[in-house]
Amino acid sequence: MKITIIGTGYVGLVTGTCFAEFGHHVTCVDKDEDKIKTLLEGQIPIYEPGLDTLVQKNTREKRLTFTTDIADAVAVADAVFMAVGTPSSRRGDGYADLTYIFEAAREIAPHLKGYTVIVDKSTVPVGTARQVARVIREVNPEADFDVASNPEFLREGAAIADFMRPDRVVIGIETHKAEDILREIYKPLYLQETPIVKTDIETAELTKYAANAFLAVKISFINEIALLCDSLGADVVSLAKGIGMDGRIGKKFLHPGPGYGGSCFPKDTLAMMRIAQEHGQNLRIVEAAVEVNAAQKAKMVKKIRDMLDGSEAGKTIAFLGLTFKPETDDMRDAPAITIIPALLEKGARIKAHDPQGMAEARKYLPQGIEYTQDAYETCKNADAVVLMTEWNQYRALDLDRLIQEMQGRVFVDLRNVYEPQKMKDKGFIYAGVGRS
Ligand code: UDX
Repeated sequence: MKITIIGTGYVGLVTGTCFAEFGHHVTCVDKDEDKIKTLLEGQIPIYEPGLDTLVQKNTREKRLTFTTDIADAVAVADAVFMAVGTPSSRRGDGYADLTYIFEAAREIAPHLKGYTVIVDKSTVPVGTARQVARVIREVNPEADFDVASNPEFLREGAAIADFMRPDRVVIGIETHKAEDILREIYKPLYLQETPIVKTDIETAELTKYAANAFLAVKISFINEIALLCDSLGADVVSLAKGIGMDGRIGKKFLHPGPGYGGSCFPKDTLAMMRIAQEHGQNLRIVEAAVEVNAAQKAKMVKKIRDMLDGSEAGKTIAFLGLTFKPETDDMRDAPAITIIPALLEKGARIKAHDPQGMAEARKYLPQGIEYTQDAYETCKNADAVVLMTEWNQYRALDLDRLIQEMQGRVFVDLRNVYEPQKMKDKGFIYAGVGRS
């Protein structure tokens, strides 16, 4: 199959590279000349484990190429995947901004040659694929095409594994022709027995939102339970095991923390709420999950303050991890963006380290933070350590060395990486989230 991907952001780049790895011929298009130049040189503009090697391999084997020239790329394609950004609208109302999608549709339209499937890969409000079809027909009434929705469920940091071994592939289509092409594209997956959920376009679009909203609800649920565990002296980690082993509940996404962040959950929950409101419905459970998530960040600030005897003013707090999750340099909606400024404002001195995210962090966090080379340097003379993101390199810290470097003994473990008793035995004043 000949596949063209519009947009070389996170989703576009991973999708294009993995399709090439399946054996298809893939052209990734982006307007950003510098980005295309970098990619042609085999360098990746984002941090995603394994992606650079896979890009280099498929480029070398001539199945993957990058260009700014949309015309040729679209003319030869059996399928064009739209993987452009759908950020929250600048109006701040939670709606998804579809400017890039419709811009891409207008640009694709004049170059379509022969039958082509145009697939929305970006997370888009229900009805977008149909609007894309309308735009294309306006620009090029002769075009022979179908639109389809094929949402992605990739997690940052594990995107390649998620793409190669997904739990399912969802395709929303209307014609057999489009179905045949999409099935051919995903053939390597169903040979390994990945289920394909075939449905209509609107359902596929909504499935993506519902999946993300459900996961956000699950996280907010366990975060609230963790707060209750804190009040009652119960242990949320055992509790999560106790409920998660019930197959109806499932053990994944029951890890409490400082609140979910990233490029999907915050944006998609808001967009889904807006879509529902437009149709006269309030998604009260999703609304609650969003509220709980905001409150969770504030509660973590309070937790840190309480551990510092009620005031962070003049205290040095060492943050380990800044990104919204490990194995990424992505800072979008990271809890650190709320938690750190709240402490800074009250006169705390902040030191911070992140294995991959420090360059990005500088763009998102206020000035006045001291960035360091490693965990131990961060903790030097600190009154408190806050483990913010569960990077592997923070999972096996030399705790004796750490406590010696510190000035105080407070360890706030926002990811429940360490065993409370072990930490107390080492001399720390320790608190996790929902266990201490
Ligand atoms: C998510 C979805 O998992 C993915 O299917 C979708 O395509 C995009 O959004 P991603 O944002 O990359 O992926 O990361 P994910 O691993 O889902 O984590 C999201 C946030 O939830 C992170 O901030 C993470 O720390 C938090 N989280 C996750 C928890 O706090 N507890 C958990 O148990 C799981």
